[in-house]
Amino acid sequence: DDFEGRGVWRYRAALPFEEGVSLPEGDTPLHEAPRLEDDLGVETLRVKHEGMNPTGSFKDRGMTVGVRVAKELGVGRLACASTGNTSAALAAYGARGGMETLVLLPSGKVAAGKIAQAALHDARILEVDGNFDSCLDIVQDLAERGEVYLLNSLNPFRLEGQKTIGLEILEQFRDDYGRFPDRIVLPVGNAGNTAALYKAFRELVQSGSLDPEQVPKLTGVQAEGAAPMVEAVENGWDDTKRWDEVETRATAIRIGNPVNAPKALPGIRETGGTAVAVTDEEITTAQRDLAREGIGVEPASAASVAGLRKLRSDDTVGGDEDVVCLTTGHLLKDPDAAFEAGGEPEPVANDTQAVLDLLAE
Ligand code: F0G
Repeated sequence: DDFEGRGVWRYRAALPFEEGVSLPEGDTPLHEAPRLEDDLGVETLRVKHEGMNPTGSFKDRGMTVGVRVAKELGVGRLACASTGNTSAALAAYGARGGMETLVLLPSGKVAAGKIAQAALHDARILEVDGNFDSCLDIVQDLAERGEVYLLNSLNPFRLEGQKTIGLEILEQFRDDYGRFPDRIVLPVGNAGNTAALYKAFRELVQSGSLDPEQVPKLTGVQAEGAAPMVEAVENGWDDTKRWDEVETRATAIRIGNPVNAPKALPGIRETGGTAVAVTDEEITTAQRDLAREGIGVEPASAASVAGLRKLRSDDTVGGDEDVVCLTTGHLLKDPDAAFEAGGEPEPVANDTQAVLDLLAE
């Protein structure tokens, strides 16, 4: 093919346009993590680090398509509800596209780096006295009244862009190993990525480019304090119900009503995957484990590795498997969480001997 596009737009044959409002996004690394691979006892572990996108999360892949659509439609104001990353990406891509943006955030529950991005890219930021799900209810109301163009993952064009995560993983893994991974483990909030990856793989199967048995098992991970999808996978899709109370240190996935569940649950089921919940402590451990491989991620991203560890320990994931963990956001998104997991700097006097004394302690 005559690939002129970069990153996401290299896959324009699978996208609704030839080009988007671009910074550009995609083409993220598929890191090796040899110590973690040994420790977890899998055949292969690779980490697809989506924190390496322009605004530091996978959301950029969706926004390059979504904001292009908004431009095409000539809408006045873009809007989203967000646990932070969507708002940062929308603000940046909205700015790039020359459009006004409005973001609704759950008050006190969004990591500092993400709000800073939305602020500097000049979004109008409203902090709602409620959780993410309430923010999304309001933005949906605004969209229905024609006040805003909605760019949450309910917008199908967002998911078109996010399909390219799956396409890149398959291509990068095959380039290195000559085969496709058995399993992709990913953090789940609204389950947009789960739905997007499943759609990407289904389209590859339908076009004859991928055998059905080569489709990686989609394996979702949630925080114990916000795990409606895990409940739905266990009890069946009809039982999916909104969790009104949610809490986790992985604020990006502090979500009680996964709006893409109807699209994502078949993906988990039909690929032979599963869903699992992990504690905040397990997430912190995984964040440190990744950091010690040089891979800096925010807590929600580390949930993928925490989930893999849990599924490996009860042998749900076999020791012979090739696994890709998706890390969705960059360490710098949530500096407070990084200090909590990594420790604070130590003060020392302006003096060499004082430094030596401290090191000798
Ligand atoms: N990881 C990170 C870092 C996220 O920011 C999100 C979602 C997810 C995982 C979950 O992805 O919804 O596709 O299952 N963040 C949204 C936001 C809700 O507003 O930034 P999903």
